[in-house]
Amino acid sequence: MQRLDRLADVRAASRAWRSAGRTIGFVPTMGALHAGHAGLVEQARSECDVVVASIFVNPLQFGPNEDLARYPRDLEGDLRTLTAAGADALFTTTPAEMYPSGFQTHVVPGALAEPLCGASRPGHFRGVATVVAKLFHLVAPHQAYFGQKDFQQARLLQRMVVDLDFDLVLRILPTRRESDGLAMSSRNRYLAPSERTAAPALHRALQSVQAAFTAGERRSEALAAVGRAALATTPAFRLDYLEVRDDETLELVPTLGGGAVVAAAAFLGSTRLIDNLLLGSAERRLG
Ligand code: PAF
Repeated sequence: MQRLDRLADVRAASRAWRSAGRTIGFVPTMGALHAGHAGLVEQARSECDVVVASIFVNPLQFGPNEDLARYPRDLEGDLRTLTAAGADALFTTTPAEMYPSGFQTHVVPGALAEPLCGASRPGHFRGVATVVAKLFHLVAPHQAYFGQKDFQQARLLQRMVVDLDFDLVLRILPTRRESDGLAMSSRNRYLAPSERTAAPALHRALQSVQAAFTAGERRSEALAAVGRAALATTPAFRLDYLEVRDDETLELVPTLGGGAVVAAAAFLGSTRLIDNLLLGSAERRLG
């Protein structure tokens, strides 16, 4: 696997691939890779001529009291995962190169960034959109791959691609889960054994909402109440939010139509987990 450790390297490599007529698939990550990331790389491998992954723990998307300093880093393990999944190149860089002295321009997403994680983590999505826009310019991919676990992120980046005329297709692939239902996440490494045992309750709470939706409940607040009550049976969890919203606009719709998303964030100790499920026809609109 080719290592591209400078902005100029990735830009030059991308230009060469494009002039040779090769299509580029891109998987941006913050490292500490798991089978969910590997699945994104494998999908890119099956659809594109060249597969590029990036690892960059982006300081711009962490709040002052968040886990930037202790965010898991495992470059050796990541290289093995990327090689096994079929990546051709890995782009890494430093905060100093990504945001040199004098840096002051940001991408500010709109309404899609306001609810859910946007409300709990002010500035987070501005940081995400800014770094992803920079990465898209540097890598110039034909297709970019994101996981559904970060559904709000993926939706607002799809919007950014349209609004800012990026010439690429942004794919959202279904969340990969452990055998007990826990969504795969780099942050699962933080969980103490007792927290890891409790963690699948978040997925089960979302499933209870899905079951109520399938049974015919269409009032979004009633559906959310089902999920909150289910999660409350696992007292180790401290709920941040659990909401049922339109899966495209992320607006609150009192009475749902054919599809929606139920999304939740909750803490186990100091670890914040997020997860979501698509309801009804929303699965067909993943993109
Ligand atoms: O989902 C992530 O890992 C990050 O938010 C991303 C998209 C790599 C931007 O830093």
